Formats: sequence, C-alpha cells, structure tokens
Amino acid sequence: MTAQGQDIEIVGIVGAGAMGRGIAQVAATGGMQVLLYDAAAGAAGRARDAINAQLDQLVGKGRMAAADAEAAKGRLKLADSLEALAPADLVVEAIVENLAVKQEVFRQLEAIVRSDCLLASNTSSLRIASIASACQERGRIAGLHFFNPVPLMKLVEVIRAPGTSEATIAALTRVGERMGRVPVVVQDSPGFLVNFGGRVYTQEALRIVSEGVASPAQVDAVMRDAWSFRMGPFELMDLTGIDVNFPVSQIIHEGYFYDRRLATTPLHQLLKESGQFGRKTRRGFFEYDASGKAIVESPDAATDAPAVSRIALAEQDDALGELLRGFGFEVSAFDDGESPLLCAPLGEDCSSFAARLGLDHRRLIGFDIAGKLDKRVTIMRPPGARQDLFDGVIAGLQKAGRAVTAICDSPGFIGQRIAAMVANLGCEMAQIRIARPHDIDKAMTLGLNYPFGPLALADAMGVETVHTIMTQLQTITGDDRYRPSLWLRRRALLGLSALTED
Ligand code: NAI
Repeated sequence: MTAQGQDIEIVGIVGAGAMGRGIAQVAATGGMQVLLYDAAAGAAGRARDAINAQLDQLVGKGRMAAADAEAAKGRLKLADSLEALAPADLVVEAIVENLAVKQEVFRQLEAIVRSDCLLASNTSSLRIASIASACQERGRIAGLHFFNPVPLMKLVEVIRAPGTSEATIAALTRVGERMGRVPVVVQDSPGFLVNFGGRVYTQEALRIVSEGVASPAQVDAVMRDAWSFRMGPFELMDLTGIDVNFPVSQIIHEGYFYDRRLATTPLHQLLKESGQFGRKTRRGFFEYDASGKAIVESPDAATDAPAVSRIALAEQDDALGELLRGFGFEVSAFDDGESPLLCAPLGEDCSSFAARLGLDHRRLIGFDIAGKLDKRVTIMRPPGARQDLFDGVIAGLQKAGRAVTAICDSPGFIGQRIAAMVANLGCEMAQIRIARPHDIDKAMTLGLNYPFGPLALADAMGVETVHTIMTQLQTITGDDRYRPSLWLRRRALLGLSALTED
C-alpha cells in the first residue's frame, strides 16, 4: 500500500549495483513493476542482463517456471533518469553509502514522485533519520534493509525512523512479504538489528584469542562442534572480509557511544592494517591455498601421555561426577591429594575457583559442561598447573572418543563466554526495543544463519545460567563489557523465559 492505502504496484529502484539488482529481481518476481535507474551509464542495462541470467538459471535448475521468469523479465524496465521514476508507488534507494549523496537523491525524489509514494533506503550504516532530515515529508520515509545476496537472503529489516508513519511500516512489511522476504520491524539504530547483534560472536572470539586463551582454529572448532554454529567466528570474519567487518565494528561501537560490550580488539585492527583481509587476500586469520581451501592447524590436543584413570572432584558436583564416570574415569568424590582435581565452573576461571575453595591449583582442571559434549570437550588449566596431569586427562577423554580442546585459563572457557555474550546482547536488543523478542530471534537466525536466536539460546542455556556466567565474567575481569543486560537480570531473578515481553 502507498501512503494513501493502495497496493504498491510500481517500485522504482535507484542504484543498480550488487544490492539494487537483487532488490529489482525480488520485486519483479514478487509481481511488481520495476523501474531501475542508475547514474552510471550502462549500469542499469548490465544489471538487467545479470537479473535475466539469474532468472534463466533458476529456470534451468527447475526452481522457477519458465513462464514466471519471462513474466518477471517483462515487469523490469530501465529508467533513463530519476524523473522517470515519477509513476512509482515506492522508491528504494541502493546507491553509494554516502549521506550527502543519499540526502540529495531523496531531496530530488521528493520533487519527482507523488505525495503518497513511499521512499526507502537500503543503507546499512547510516541512520534513516539522517537521510530523512533532508526531506519535507518524513512520514513516508523508512529503511528497507536487504542482505547480500538478496535473492538468497530471506530477511529484510523494515527500519522505523522517528518520523516514519505506521502506515508506511505496514506497507513496507507487506511489500517485503510480496518480494518473498521475511520482514522484521526494527528501530533506527546503529547497525539496525542483525549487524549490531552479530558483533559479539566474532568480537568475543577475538578477545579470547587476544588473551592467549586459545587459537582461532580452537575457537572455531568449539563453536561449530559444541554450539552448532555453522561457521566459527574466525572463518566467518575471513569470509566476510576483515576490510568490511573491522570498520563495521568501529561504526557500531562509536554509534553506541563506545559501549564496552561492542569494543573490538587491536588484533582485529592489526589484520585490517596489514591488508590480511581473509579469503579475498588468501590470508586472514587463516591461510588459503590456490584452490581456496583453508590451511588450518589441528584444533585438537595431542599427547602420548598415558591416560589417567582416576580423577577427583574439586567440589561436590554429582552431575560432573556422573559425566566423568560415563567417560570411563574412576571418580573420587573427595580430593585424595594426588589425582587431577576436576571442576565445572560457570563463568569462573580455574584460578578464581582454586583461590575461592583453597584448592591445589597445580592439579586443578576445568571442564566445560555447557554446550554439546558428544564430539568435542573443552578443558582448561590455571597457570602453574601440572602438565602431566593435564595430558593424562586429555588422553583419558580421547579414549572416550572425544576431540579435546585444551586451553589456558578463561572465565567461561570459549563456548560459555561467546554464547553468553550473544545471549546477553540479544537481551539488550529486546531491552532497548530494537525489535520484539521473537523478531530478534527470527532476524538473527535468518540474517546470520545462526542455529538459534539469542533469546532462544538464553533459554536453552538457562536464563539464570547465562546471568551467572555474565556476572562472574564481569566480577573477575572488572570489565563493564560483561555487565548483564537488565532484561536478562530481571528474567533470571523471576525465573522467566528470555522471550517474555515487558
Ligand atoms: P554498489 O557499489 O554495488 O552499487 C551502487 C550503485 O549505485 C552503483 O551502480 C552506482 O553507479 C550507483 N549510484 C551511485 N550514486 C548514484 C546516484 N547518485 N544516483 C543513482 N545511482 C547512483 O553498492 P551496493 O553494495 O549495491 O550497496 C548499495 C547500498 O546498499 C549501500 O547503501 C550499502 O550500504 C547498502 N547495502 C549493501 C550491502 C552489501 O552487502 N553490499 C548489504 C546491505 C545494504
């Protein structure tokens, strides 16, 4: 519907680059007439050729009927000037990411299109409010933020700026659906939903590596095997390109006035500065051979030490005892003074655990019970720990058929720490009303390919557990980065699901 309530039939698109052509394709396949304009000579024509080729490919693969593809091609027309977009019911802008240039295009569009025509920007990093500030009538202006490649990425964020009317949000939501996307309404905020919510998965991983806790390959293996993420944080950064994800991290950190939760690390900047951008330069966190295959050192602990058969529990912990018995260890419920001492801390490092309980830290080994344990387990040791006992436990766990990630002391190991940060930021997004709780999960799963949304993750880990991990991390590190969101804290205190609305 337009601002006057009619259905949107004609979509004008300004900018026929990577995004504009994708948007044009889904608009045309969604049954709308498309007018495609680009300032660069020949760009719109090349975009049309590329779209037609894509549609032919879909037909070739049996994913689209030939008649539908032909009909979509017929709905796509080139516009040779901005003025030619005058009949549009909606104009989507997907030009260069430059505020002054976008403001100028919106100003010009105001003078060209009808008063009930909606105006949307596909910007990723600018505020819709900043673009709209150049315009007279702001109720019809919103963001329509697609993801690359548009035809494959189902999510579209419908961005509500302070002046955007409800009718505009409703109309764009409907347009998004007709384009075959899943629209989620999001507030006009730095990075909107997905680019903001996705920060901590990679940035906490960078922090862990910067602290010398583990290597990128170890972190990736844990997040894939124990937490079901399709990609580890480092392979993901290498894929998107460090030249892209470092500046995005900077923009969002700055946009939230340097909130510690969103800070990235000097290591991230170092790679960017050195020109090691990832796959595209064949070297990032990993190296890539000529065929594009990553050369990754094994993330698994290796030892020829004999397996220890007997271990002792560092404190009474029936669940840990049961688990370790299941792995074939003889488990002593008390410290016998010589066996490795096993503990299962939540958000606590082994050093703090040993000091708190007055334990022999040289024999203490932390075992991460969070996450899946069927393929891989993570263990950690405090400084000064006995290597022979650590190796013996590694060998024992390997005998039980598990790959072992052996790391240095870390509050929250690898997985607890990253997962709790993801869940906590999801809670914060709900708290600051970026979107509704279910929409946050929907957007994060569709936009980032996460196996679950951050709020569902909090529920699966236990809201109270996530709160404990964050509180411990905050206390031990003294870093405001780990402060629990009020949304999380309240739901932990009251025993509620993270998805419970206020
Ligand atoms: P692109 O560089 O591939 O395409 C931009 C196109 O806009 C070019 O063809 C250029 O000739 C044209 N253009 C520039 N100024 C113009 C003007 N004044 N009038 C008409 N045409 C003009 O850029 P891309 O990647 O398609 O990005 C476009 C927008 O989409 C940006 O705002 C970007 O932030 C946003 N975006 C990009 C994503 C991506 O992954 N590439 C994802 C989501 C949003």
